[in-house]
Amino acid sequence: MTRQRWSSRTVFVLAAIGSAVGLGNVWRFPYLAGKYGGGAFLIPYLTALLLVGMPLLMLEFAIGQKTQQGVAGAFKRLHPSFQGFGLAAILTGFMIIAYYAVVMAWTLIYFFNAFRLSWSDNAEQYFFDSVLHLSDGVGQIGRINLPILLALAAVWAIIYFCVWRGVQSEGKVVLYSVPLPIILLGVLLVRAITLPGFLAGWRLYLTPIWSILADPEVWSAAFSQIFFTLSLAMGIMVAYTSYKAPDNDIARDTWATALTNSAISLFSGFVVFGVLGYMAWRTTTPITELAASGPGLAFVVFPQALSLMPLPGLFSALFFLMLLSLGIDSAFSLVEAVNTVLIDRYPHWRIERVSIWICLTGLILGIIYTTQAGLYFLDITDHFVTHYNLMLIAIAQSVLGGWVYGAESLRRYINTVSDWRIGPWWSISVKFIAPISLTALLAAQFITDIRTPYEGYPAWMLGIGWSLVLISMGIMVGPLLSRQRHRKIQ
Ligand code: PHE
Repeated sequence: MTRQRWSSRTVFVLAAIGSAVGLGNVWRFPYLAGKYGGGAFLIPYLTALLLVGMPLLMLEFAIGQKTQQGVAGAFKRLHPSFQGFGLAAILTGFMIIAYYAVVMAWTLIYFFNAFRLSWSDNAEQYFFDSVLHLSDGVGQIGRINLPILLALAAVWAIIYFCVWRGVQSEGKVVLYSVPLPIILLGVLLVRAITLPGFLAGWRLYLTPIWSILADPEVWSAAFSQIFFTLSLAMGIMVAYTSYKAPDNDIARDTWATALTNSAISLFSGFVVFGVLGYMAWRTTTPITELAASGPGLAFVVFPQALSLMPLPGLFSALFFLMLLSLGIDSAFSLVEAVNTVLIDRYPHWRIERVSIWICLTGLILGIIYTTQAGLYFLDITDHFVTHYNLMLIAIAQSVLGGWVYGAESLRRYINTVSDWRIGPWWSISVKFIAPISLTALLAAQFITDIRTPYEGYPAWMLGIGWSLVLISMGIMVGPLLSRQRHRKIQ
């Protein structure tokens, strides 16, 4: 059977950008910049992008394109002992997509309530009480929220229709889903700069607080943000590039994806901070407090700010439409990563069927996040999976590509197919800088989590988080150990 192909290189780059640009750019990045010293945060952020993000993205691009396999098959081809890491990447991706789709379901609910501005009286109460029905503690799971469940089913139905024909249908969707949110961001930027107070927001965004650079936490936040935003270590980029011909350009596509993604983050910083500046001007809340509101930024502070401006319904609808269109191509890229692994393994399976099962499984796994304690479960999963699973897989990936297979031989391959030449710095990054810096970050995070239980959650809840890490680790090292036992017996 011949492998599916993207209809053109532009479509591939759009799809890669679509996966990278998501809620992480518009909500997570500005919030981190606000929390960690405005302009100064850009320094660790750009350092992480150039030192680790870009090289590892290029590594994933090279592995996928060279092996023409999804992540499990690709890792296995590079070295059989590493197959488990590929499977763990898929499993981790699944854990993420299950809650990512729920965040999209909230967005859908907000979108339908935008013209009514249901949150205008009290945005916080609206989010936590009316939408989430959040219980008092994680011990009280309560009931399933039917509206969220229905919205979740709708989100999964949309995802299904994007992926059901593999890269053929995805290639068509990204022609709209990638430019649309960028245009909407542009509209919102124009709105922001015509509001009083926006400059104060920009000042906070761009004025560096240098002292913050001495804090290791800032560096850790910047590195994990780069990981999340470039959709690394989930098998996505490997799957996507496996649908390019083996002699396609790699270097230019990597730069195009990584730089466009970060440019959109920086751009959305101007939108978010501009609007927050306006809100600080209208209310008396200090802007630093608004900027550091964390997960509430997109669902509490920003909607409230939108409801204060002229034509609030319209701009709220545009904002949530932007979030939806931003998220959808990130969400379906993860489903494609799983699809690819299954179809590689069982080539006679029909992609329409496989996608249905994946989407249904995702929907079922997501039910836990639609309960009244859903936000707590989401928070725990997100914390452990992004800080441990992604890091472990990325370290394994750089060891596999850099040492076991050989960075130099991959670099030769990249240079043979690419117009732009990649220097030896790439091998140095993949072999040394990436694994060392990621291991240091992982160790630092581990120490922090052991010292102070994350967000003060009860032990059983933290146990759930740690078991997600342990399950993935089991899958990672399982094939490795069984191969060794096998060898000893022989
Ligand atoms: N890159 C996405 C973002 O910034 C993150 C992501 C991708 C999450 C794919 C899940 C799946 O939002």
